[in-house]
Amino acid sequence: MTQVENHEFSKLKQDEVAIVMVPFPSQGHLNQLLQLSCLISSYHLPIYYVGLATHNHQARIRAKALNPSNIAKIHFHDLPNPELIASSNLEKVRDVSMLLRDPIASFIRDISSKVRRVVVVHDPMMSYNVQDVSSLPNAESYIFNCISVFSCYIMMCLFLKISGQHEEELLKKLYSFEGVTTDEAMDLSDSQHPYMDIRSGDIHNTSKVIESKYIDLMEQAEISLNKKQWAIGPILPTKLDYISNRENICLDWLNKQPPRSVLYVSFGTINSFSDRQIKELAMGLEQSKQRFILVLRDADRRDIFKGEARKVELPEGFEERVKEVGLVVREWAPQPEILAHLSTGGFMSHCDWNSCLESIIMGV
Ligand SMILES: *[C@@H]1O[C@H](CO)[C@@H](O)[C@H](O)[C@H]1NC(C)=O
Repeated sequence: MTQVENHEFSKLKQDEVAIVMVPFPSQGHLNQLLQLSCLISSYHLPIYYVGLATHNHQARIRAKALNPSNIAKIHFHDLPNPELIASSNLEKVRDVSMLLRDPIASFIRDISSKVRRVVVVHDPMMSYNVQDVSSLPNAESYIFNCISVFSCYIMMCLFLKISGQHEEELLKKLYSFEGVTTDEAMDLSDSQHPYMDIRSGDIHNTSKVIESKYIDLMEQAEISLNKKQWAIGPILPTKLDYISNRENICLDWLNKQPPRSVLYVSFGTINSFSDRQIKELAMGLEQSKQRFILVLRDADRRDIFKGEARKVELPEGFEERVKEVGLVVREWAPQPEILAHLSTGGFMSHCDWNSCLESIIMGV
């Protein structure tokens, strides 16, 4: 195969290590790999963030908590839209994460010929697409996990059917996974498993202080497979001085509230409540007489730049009645900054790993 001369690589040096990030195209995942990119880039390593143009664009415009001068150092490599995705099936996540193998392989091959070593850091759900790393002598890959080591470990026990006495007792105490994920998500995850073997190890956004027991268990389980485990978290979005200088309606509003008085209510971007559930929630907030910020974003569509967003209905006159004590936000809310704000006193959440960690770290 001939090497394509690519101006993107013009600044690379032969003795360098280049990092290639391969995110999974959903907001939480895009954002976290971008954040990790900024962190790694502060060690003066060249970083390539690889995805479809629309997802790279989404990652950049939503990265409001990251310092723009850090983002500017990252090379965004837009993959050409595979025909199938462009024409019909963008709805199906599974297609996106199974069709990028060739363009990703050729990008990694090109870059590997320019530098000493290539390190690919990817989402577990992109394992299929990065499998060709194994055919390159100077490349290796790591999985970056956005979830807790506890969850990783439990899933490993369930899916790979690892069972010692300890695991069995642990599993008995847990809720079943049934109904927690969709069939589509399970399919996607199953289809990635065979390709996870090529990785050299896992990077986790956690620390021994919080999860030492499960980090140790994970290490023991993976050591025979020669996979290294790295707990490098918690990786915070940005420096606090940058946070405090930013203008945002939530932060402006919080500035006017008494210390520790506001309940922050947000259920992430992936959960859609029914209108009835939202009305109940709103009525509860109103009757509680607490100060609150209520984030009402509907779940993301596959392409956030296309199609109509659903307008979530609140009880009639709600916003007017609560305007002294409550703020309803329909946009992207800067969660870490809100939690770090002195006026925030509580957090009502769907308790994903990020929200839990951010809440612990900010002492809310
Ligand atoms: C790591 O976890 C923290 C706390 O939940 C979160 O704010 C941050 O976005 C995560 N960073 C990455 C790179 O996953």
